[in-house]
Amino acid sequence: MRPLLHISDLHFGRNDTTTREAKAAIAAIIARWGGDANKPIIVATGDIVQDGEPAQYEIARVEIERLRAAGFEVFLVPGNHDYGRMGSHAEARRFTYFKEAFYPTRLVAYPDVYRIEGWTIVGLNSMKAECGFVDGLLADGELGPDQISDANLVLRQLQEERKSGRTKLVVALHHHPFLFPDESPIKKLGELVGHRLKDGADLMHKITGLTDVLLFGHDHREWDFSKELGGKVLTTDYDIPVILSCGTTSGVNDITQEPGPRKAWLIEEAGGQVRPREITL
Ligand SMILES: [Fe+2]
Repeated sequence: MRPLLHISDLHFGRNDTTTREAKAAIAAIIARWGGDANKPIIVATGDIVQDGEPAQYEIARVEIERLRAAGFEVFLVPGNHDYGRMGSHAEARRFTYFKEAFYPTRLVAYPDVYRIEGWTIVGLNSMKAECGFVDGLLADGELGPDQISDANLVLRQLQEERKSGRTKLVVALHHHPFLFPDESPIKKLGELVGHRLKDGADLMHKITGLTDVLLFGHDHREWDFSKELGGKVLTTDYDIPVILSCGTTSGVNDITQEPGPRKAWLIEEAGGQVRPREITL
């Protein structure tokens, strides 16, 4: 099985530095694996662009097309920034730009189930129930009950294949479906007001024990939840062997706007085990 490469939060169009660094990340992927028969399958967990603007999507489209032309499979789910200005003014119509830019020739509906080699990737849209004049404000997300129950159904239907070792199940979405266990009270409050996935607890309840890998971005903070954080080991609590938050793959610091390490996870399968490795592009 080819490995997965988890990237996130490229934010094309945020400013010249971010766009340049995001393009450099794409170029680094092509330089590193472009000539490789065992190219990783790329999973991008949202915030591909900064404001959901057509001009930003055009820049991102060219870059994603560059990867595909070099032979990479690229699977993307949307984030709050793909849906609107500064990630805080979500409009459903902007999702049309996302689909036109990245999936011009196929129907995209969520859960978006993508099967490749031994992987089954269940992509979720954490902005699906979070659009409109009031609901679309701020940076929180909501899957909606239908999407969660459909994801649960897909995962349950695939358990036999999973148990017999024929597939590894991956759930990928933009928002973190739980708070990082070490958050300060102030950050926790900010999460509750307008940054979290509102129905994250419902999602976790419905995927616990049913999946091998859970991938997300949004917080711009890389973490492997098999490691203890705030006194908790969440891979154990949720009975999901691999849970990863990806940092920004453009690598630009949110406060200083200075370039930094371009973060990604390489996820490899060997002997039935899935192991993540933090990499810098
Ligand atoms: Fe982001």
